[in-house]
Order: sequence, then structure tokens, then C-alpha cells
Amino acid sequence: MLLFTPVETENLRMKNRLVRSATAESMATKEGFVTDEMVELYKKLAEGGAGTVITGYMFVSEEGRASYKMTGISEDRHVDGLKKLVSTVKKADRSVVFVAQLAHAGRQTFISPVAPSAVKDPFTGIEPREMTGEDIERVIDDFVNAALRAEKAGFDAVQLHAAHGYLLSEFISPHTNRRKDEYGRERAKILLDIFEGIRGKSRIPVMIKMNACDFVPGGLEVGEAVRIAKLLDDIGFEAIEVSGGMYESIYHQRYNVVSQKVGKSGEAYFRDYAFRIKEAVNIPVMVVGGVRSLDVAESLLEKVEFVSMSRPLIRDPFLPRKMMAGEADRSDCKSCNLCLTAIFEGKPLGCYSKN
Ligand SMILES: Cc1cc2nc3c(=O)[nH]c(=O)nc-3n(C[C@H](O)[C@H](O)[C@H](O)COP(=O)(O)O)c2cc1C
Ligand code: SF4
Repeated sequence: MLLFTPVETENLRMKNRLVRSATAESMATKEGFVTDEMVELYKKLAEGGAGTVITGYMFVSEEGRASYKMTGISEDRHVDGLKKLVSTVKKADRSVVFVAQLAHAGRQTFISPVAPSAVKDPFTGIEPREMTGEDIERVIDDFVNAALRAEKAGFDAVQLHAAHGYLLSEFISPHTNRRKDEYGRERAKILLDIFEGIRGKSRIPVMIKMNACDFVPGGLEVGEAVRIAKLLDDIGFEAIEVSGGMYESIYHQRYNVVSQKVGKSGEAYFRDYAFRIKEAVNIPVMVVGGVRSLDVAESLLEKVEFVSMSRPLIRDPFLPRKMMAGEADRSDCKSCNLCLTAIFEGKPLGCYSKN
């Protein structure tokens, strides 16, 4: 099985091709500190067999918070807790590549919504404040400083969250970024600036999770996503995880685009987008979204380097180990999204399905 064979990116070696995609824990203290509950979750994930484990989104500044139980990487005082998280994972399995996802919520938050342009989000009813040039410079610094904290804590890499309609996703989307300045003329500029800012101070590998399509009229489409992906490849990003959708997409698709319900025929619903991007870039690509079975994962690996899973590992963090041992050939996650509802209600991450 290709899924459980080693693979390398430019700077990292993974023991296998299965990635735990970033999944919000909703377990931090109100100041964003790591809790024992969270350490326990990551211990299980590390023992569970995935070669790469990406944390849930962490806020790079107070302004960038999506919710009150989100984990923080915005201040130096967050580093000690993150160090404990990393050392627990490494103690469980030294070979796990542990990645910190860095995020700013942009307009998709009730706390302090800002965005490239003041485009109202019909889902939340919020009209964000349009960011000034100084705001953008500050956010770039916030991402750079967060990456340095991740390195200090011992993470192997960081992943910029540029998917699902959060701030960096809003920048690359023509729907939410209508700026006339340099950050609107080249909507990927903020990603390149963050990358260069990190590279000026650190060698930590930088991955990205990005939308290939927003599923809103006037939003990001795959052709433009391919163009952006090439820029990211050229500048030296380590890997691209391909996703799609934002809160607003629900009005145009009548379902949650990011975390869709999946039947057997609907597995790996972003596969064609990921393949389009892979055809254009040299760096490794990760497919996420509705991968549930071993045979589908294997078939995806004919074209891309990594397969990512979120809900299957909420359901059972040990699924990769079971698949490897021949004890399971698919996830029994029902894709009911009760886990998603729960974290929006401030409950801790877990499988809330009754069956
Ligand atoms: C409870 C929950 C929390 C999530 N949190 C994040 C997150 O913090 N960052 C992120 O990039 N995606 C997040 N996602 C999206 C998943 O990483 C993934 O892209 C999506 O669920 C589709 O993959 P799946 O079918 O394997 O679940 C979350 C999804 C769920 C269900
Ligand atoms: S709550 Fe539903 S979607 Fe979430 S892990 Fe459990 S079965 Fe899967």
C-alpha cells in the first residue's frame, strides 16, 4: 500500500502519506493556552499512525480569533504550552511530522472582524472593517512572529490557513478582496510577503492550505488558484493542501462545501481541483475533503503525494494504524457534522454521533 510508504518533501521526511488535516480543538483556555485535554488528543493522534499531524487553526493575534476556545500562538507566553504539546507528540512517536496551522479569522468572526474589503458576510450578517495598509503590515508581522514561536515550540513546520474564507483566503478571493492597492492588484502578495518575512528569520518549512474554489459568484476559481499555486511553488512553499468553500458558500450550494456529507461515490470531493494544481506545480500536493476509504486514498496517490483526513480521525484517531494492520479499510464516520456543530457551540472536539 502506497499510503503507508515514506515520502519526502524538500525539507521533511514523512513515514507515510496520510495527513491529519487541521481540525479545531476548541479546548484552549480563554487566553488561548494549551490544556491537558488538548495534549491528550494529540497524544492519541500521534499514536494513531498518521505520518503528519496538523494542529487546529491557531490565532496569530487577538484580532484574528475565530472563537473563545481557539488555541493561541499570538504571544510568547503561549510557547510553553505548545512546547508541551510538541514534546508529547514526539514522545509518542518521534517520526510524526507535527505542523502548526497559523490563522487569522478575517471577517468570519464576531470578535473583531476585519477583511481586505468591507464585503458583508451574509452568513454572519457582519460587515467587516476594511484593513488599512498598516493593518496589513501588522498582520504579516503577526504571521511571521507566530511562525517563529512555532519553531521555538519545536514544530517541524507551519501551515498558513488560506482556505475556507478566513483572512488569507479572503485576500486571494476576488469576491472578498476588491482592493485597488498592491494587495488587490496581486491578491497573493500577502502570502508571498508572509513567506519572505518568515524566511528572513527562519528556515522552518512553510506549507499552505488554500481554496481552489470559493463556490460563490465572483469568488476564486480554479484557474486563478492554479496561477497562485505556481507563485507559491516558485517562492519555496513546502506543500499545498487543496480545499474549497467559505461560510458564504452555503447560500450557493445548499450544503457545507468544506465538510460535505460523503457517500461512497462522493469521496474526495476536491480531487479534480487538487489534480489541476498538481499538474502545474512541482511541490507536493495534499488532497483533503471526504476521503474515507483505503482504495480511494490509494487511487489519489497515483496523482498527488498526500491524502488528508479530518473527520475520520475525529471519529477514530487510531484509524491509520488499523488500516495499516488490515483491521479497517474505511472510516465509519457518518459525515453528520455534529462535531462541527459542537465546536461552534464551544464544546470540545470529539465525535458526537450517536451511532
Ligand atoms: C470539527 C472540525 C474542525 C475543523 N477545523 C479546521 C481548522 O481548524 N482548520 C482547517 O483548515 N480546517 C478545519 N476543518 C476542515 C477539515 O480540515 C477538512 O478540510 C474538512 O473537514 C474536509 O475533510 P474531511 O472530510 O476529512 O473531514 C475542520 C473540520 C471539522 C469537521
Ligand atoms: S460527529 Fe459525525 S461527522 Fe463528526 S466525526 Fe462523528 S460521525 Fe463523523
